[in-house]
Amino acid sequence: MGRSRASIRRLDQVSAQRAAAASAVADGKTMLTPPAPWSAPTLQPLLSRHCVHAWLVHLDQPCEVLNHLSLTLSPDERERADRYRFARDRACFITGRGTLRCILARYIGCRPGDLGFSYGPQGRPELDERTEHKWVHFNVSHSGAFALYGVAWDRRIGVDLECVRGIPEALSIARHFFSPSEYRALLTATPEKRQSQFFWYWTRKEAFLKATGDGLAHPLRNVEILNGPGDSARLLVSNGQKTDEAGWSLGRVVPPEGYEAALVVEGRNIGTEMFLWDYTGRFS
Ligand SMILES: CC(C)(COP(=O)(O)OP(=O)(O)OC[C@H]1O[C@@H](n2cnc3c(N)ncnc32)[C@H](O)[C@@H]1OP(=O)(O)O)[C@@H](O)C(=O)NCCC(=O)NCCS
Repeated sequence: MGRSRASIRRLDQVSAQRAAAASAVADGKTMLTPPAPWSAPTLQPLLSRHCVHAWLVHLDQPCEVLNHLSLTLSPDERERADRYRFARDRACFITGRGTLRCILARYIGCRPGDLGFSYGPQGRPELDERTEHKWVHFNVSHSGAFALYGVAWDRRIGVDLECVRGIPEALSIARHFFSPSEYRALLTATPEKRQSQFFWYWTRKEAFLKATGDGLAHPLRNVEILNGPGDSARLLVSNGQKTDEAGWSLGRVVPPEGYEAALVVEGRNIGTEMFLWDYTGRFS
């Protein structure tokens, strides 16, 4: 997966911050302030009906954090971790699932290891019957060095994160899987802009399909994004049915440099708060 120099520089800065933060924790000092617009969350973040939360997690965590996170996993999650052939993939899964547990546990007020998940017909994870607070809805995406989570109170939510990279077959994918107007927009874009525009459309379409739980089992072509990047985007869904009628909207989520991200939520006029997860010395 190719990364731009700017993105590598940014990741280096994040790694340097992380190393400083880890030693600050070890020294019992307070954490660094995360870069705007991502803020440090409180230990008990409050969800309201009118605002959803986006969480960004760096998947490259120190060994000591990884070991602690792996203790929060259920037996089936540990089995899944063990099935990864490469240590890096295994570590990303443990960090991703472990931090998801830690984050959800903050809303519910339980221990991360007490949460149980069930899976929808297309594989979408949800909190299971054993968890008292079924009103906490969430969705997960990971790409490159980051994971993105969306959390909402009693409304469906979907997120998608993609590391922007060269896709030589972008136009051919768009011809088959994007709507005619999206394909036209890509055709007329300059080659430099086409790559980022492709991911701009892709993330918004996939976030919607993840919010419904269908995933890519539903034709991407039937989910249409109105207006290209730079305009205030609107989402048109299945066969041209207007978002206003279908009741879905795009939330605001700012991706890390070199990435594209999208958040789709059920309902209208919903705000988004963005939090950067970091190990605070405790896992709830
Ligand atoms: C969901 C899907 C779009 C993921 O795409 P991706 O770009 O590879 O991966 P992302 O990082 O964005 O998302 C992966 C996460 O989405 C979540 N997810 C899985 N299936 C999902 C679904 N149907 N709807 C919403 N979210 C889903 C999971 O949390 C997963 O992460 P995890 O396995 O670590 O928990 C794709 O796998 C898909 O379309 N799946 C459904 C169709 C399918 O294959 N069904 C098989 C029957 S199980």
